Amino acid sequence: MVTQHSPAPDWYRTAFRYDYLRVYPHRNDEEACRQVDFLLERLDVAPPCDVLDLGCGDGRHSLELTRRGFRVTGLDLSEELLERARRRTAEEGLDIDFIQGDMRDPPGVRAYDLVVNFFTSFGYFREDAENARVLEAISRSLRPGGRYLMDYLNREFVISTLVPSDHRTVEGMEVEQRRWITGDPTAAGAHVRINKQVRIREDGAERSYDESVRMYTLEELEALMERAGLKVTRTYGDFDGRPVSGDAPRNILLGQTGPTKHARQAEHASQTEHASQTETASQTEHASQAEHAGDTKSRPGAASRDEKPAMPCP
Ligand SMILES: C[S@@+](CC[C@H](N)C(=O)[O-])C[C@H]1O[C@@H](n2cnc3c(N)ncnc32)[C@H](O)[C@@H]1O
Repeated sequence: MVTQHSPAPDWYRTAFRYDYLRVYPHRNDEEACRQVDFLLERLDVAPPCDVLDLGCGDGRHSLELTRRGFRVTGLDLSEELLERARRRTAEEGLDIDFIQGDMRDPPGVRAYDLVVNFFTSFGYFREDAENARVLEAISRSLRPGGRYLMDYLNREFVISTLVPSDHRTVEGMEVEQRRWITGDPTAAGAHVRINKQVRIREDGAERSYDESVRMYTLEELEALMERAGLKVTRTYGDFDGRPVSGDAPRNILLGQTGPTKHARQAEHASQTEHASQTETASQTEHASQAEHAGDTKSRPGAASRDEKPAMPCP
């Protein structure tokens, strides 16, 4: 029987501590190194330039990017994970600015050439508007033409491979994970989430924490990105570079700041409206000239063409 309690709205404040690192041991430096290779092969960024690692955790990508010559700022809410990141940075003699803060409001406007968001560090907030703030923050943090990478879950894959519960023993602790989905994925635009409860038994004591991530479809996420001024240039289904599909585990989005499809559509709509207004104005004027031509006596002082605006102001 799978528990279906409701994770607290601010579950992300307590989920990411040392236990999180122990529960996901495969999310390690080797994986980060491969992911940084992937990023550098596909995005036109070269050191030294400024990188923001948004939701940096214990800094595995920040460290790797710094080893490769980038100037990195790592931002995370978890003081425990940041402490580990700082310790590792000092041990290697590297220089990384790790900041405790909220990903909706990172410091630095147009300060970065690249923003990275690895391993589903998005979709944590209950309200879509709050999740959108993270994308706006990415957009705001980037210099014009700056690049980003977002490594997000693939909703279709999560649903088709969902294991409602499992047990394993990691480093002497017993870990039980229960997973369930809320919201109707078949209903267009529904608020769908993947929820997880992690229970840990160790040395006779028990503790637990929750996770709850908003699962956007790729189309929904792309639309949110575009609205935030982030152009999506490429998508991948995993870090081997395979295409997005129902069988691929990830939705990895690469891109850069505007002009987005959304902006282009808005511009096209405004140009179309502009053109139709111009046409209407010219037809009105045409009709008005014809009318004047037929009634010159009664309107001797009619304004000349040059006295009227030729078209409405844009
Ligand atoms: C799944 S972990 C990924 C960490 C890192 N990107 C990695 O790949 O190892 C998500 C990270 O987001 C951080 N986080 C959660 N909510 C946050 C918030 N509101 N603002 C900043 N960071 C947050 C967590 O503390 C955690 O380190």
